[in-house]
Amino acid sequence: MSVKIQNIKGTKDILPKDSQLWLETESIIHNFMSLHGYKLIRTPIFEKTELFNRTIGEDTDIVTKEMYTWTDLDGTSLTLRPELTASVVRSFVQHNLQSKSPLHRLYYIDSSFRRERPQKGRQRQFTQYGIEAIGSAHPEQDAEVILIAYRIYQMLGIKDLEVHINSIGSQQSRETYISSLSKYLAPYKNELSEISQTRLDVNPLRILDSKSEKDKKILEGAPQISDFLTKEDLVTFNSIQSFLNNLGIPFITDNNLVRGLDYYNGMTFEITTKSIGAQSALCGGGRYDKLVEYLGGKPTPAVGFAAGFERLMLILNEHLDETKDVIDIYIISTDEKSTNSSLIIADKIRNTHGIKVVCETLRRSMKSQLREANKLNAQFVIIIGEEEISSGEVIIKNMQDSSQISAPIDNIENYFGVNYEYK
Ligand code: HAM
Repeated sequence: MSVKIQNIKGTKDILPKDSQLWLETESIIHNFMSLHGYKLIRTPIFEKTELFNRTIGEDTDIVTKEMYTWTDLDGTSLTLRPELTASVVRSFVQHNLQSKSPLHRLYYIDSSFRRERPQKGRQRQFTQYGIEAIGSAHPEQDAEVILIAYRIYQMLGIKDLEVHINSIGSQQSRETYISSLSKYLAPYKNELSEISQTRLDVNPLRILDSKSEKDKKILEGAPQISDFLTKEDLVTFNSIQSFLNNLGIPFITDNNLVRGLDYYNGMTFEITTKSIGAQSALCGGGRYDKLVEYLGGKPTPAVGFAAGFERLMLILNEHLDETKDVIDIYIISTDEKSTNSSLIIADKIRNTHGIKVVCETLRRSMKSQLREANKLNAQFVIIIGEEEISSGEVIIKNMQDSSQISAPIDNIENYFGVNYEYK
C-alpha cells in the first residue's frame, strides 16, 4: 500500500521554480563576503547540547523551549544547532585558529533549527547567513560588521531598512543595571504580562524586549541602560556611531535592544524592515567578547551578525518577476539514431563552451519538442533526424530572430563561439 508522506511542519522544500533565485542570492552573498576579506566556515549541523546551553543561556527562549535535542545511543545529549555563533567559536577554539592570525574574518550560509511556532518568515528549519569577526576589540570592527549587513540589503534593493543599535555595556555595568531594573519592576510584578513575570526572576533584561503594551507602559519609567554604561563603553559606542555616520549608514539608537541570546556585551544591533510583516527582524548581532574565553580559548574579542535567508527571499520574491529560466541550446531528435547523435553533440558543446545544452529524452513528436524548447527559452535549437544523419549536416535555428544555418554534425561545436558568433 502506498503512503503519502508530508514534510515536517515549519520546514520548506525549495522547488526548482525558486531555486534559481536562491542560488543567485547565495552567490551574491558569497562574493560580497569575499570582497570584504571574509572566508567561509562550515561546521556540523549538530553539536553537544551543552555548547548551546552554556553560550546562548539556560534561561533564554531558544534553550528552554526551542531546541531539537535528543539523547544519542551512548547517552550524550545532542542538539541541532539553533544558530551558528556558538559552533563557529567552538571550532575556532578547537582548531586553535587564534595561533594562526590575530584576526579571523569568517562567514557562513547554513541551516539552523528552532522549534518555534511557524508563520510567515518564521520556520523550524531556516537558513542563516552571517559573519563572525574574531580578534578585534576596536569600534571599526563593529562598524565593518554593521556595514556588511546593511550593504547586502541595499545592494539587493531592499527598502524601508532601519538599523537599530544599542550598547548593553560591559558585564559589570550590565549587572548594576539589571539590579536597578529589577528593583524598579518589582512593585509592578503582578501587572506585568505572564512571560515578563517569569523573566523578572530569571532574566529581567529580556523584559525590555516585551511586545505587551502593558509592559511597554510600565517600562516607560524604567531606568535606561545608557545611564549605566562606563566611560569606556560610551567612548566605544560613540566611535561606532561616528564611523556609521561617516559611512553614510543611517541608524536609530534603541535603549531596549537587548537581543535574545546571553553571550552579548557592548554593541548590539538589528536591521528591520516593514516589508515582511510581523517578523520584521532581517538580521541581528553584536559583540561577544567573552565567548572565546568561555569556551576554553585565550581571551579574544569578537563581533558578528546573522541574517535570516528566508526572510530575505520573501522580499526578493515579492519584488522580482519570476526569474526567467534560459537555456542555450535545445537539441531535437526524431529517432533512436539521431538521439545517439544528439547526446554526443550535446556533450561536445557543453565541454567545449561550458554552455547549457538540453537533449530530448521523452521521445516526443517534433512539434512537442519545439514547444518544450520555447518553454525553456532556448536561444538555439538544433534539429537532427534521419535526413540530417545521412547528409551529415544539421540545422541550427536561432530562436530569437528565426534565422537558421546548416552546420556539419562532426564539428558542430565550432559553430558556437566562432563561425556563428554565438556569445
Ligand atoms: P538571532 O537574532 O537569533 O541571532 O537570529 C538572527 C536572524 O535569524 C534573525 O534576525 C532572523 O532574521 C533569523 N531567524 C531567527 N529565527 C528564525 C526562524 N525561526 N525562522 C526564520 N528566520 C529566523 C543569532 O542567531 C546570532 N547568532 C547572531 C549573531 C552572530 N550574533 C553575533 N554573531
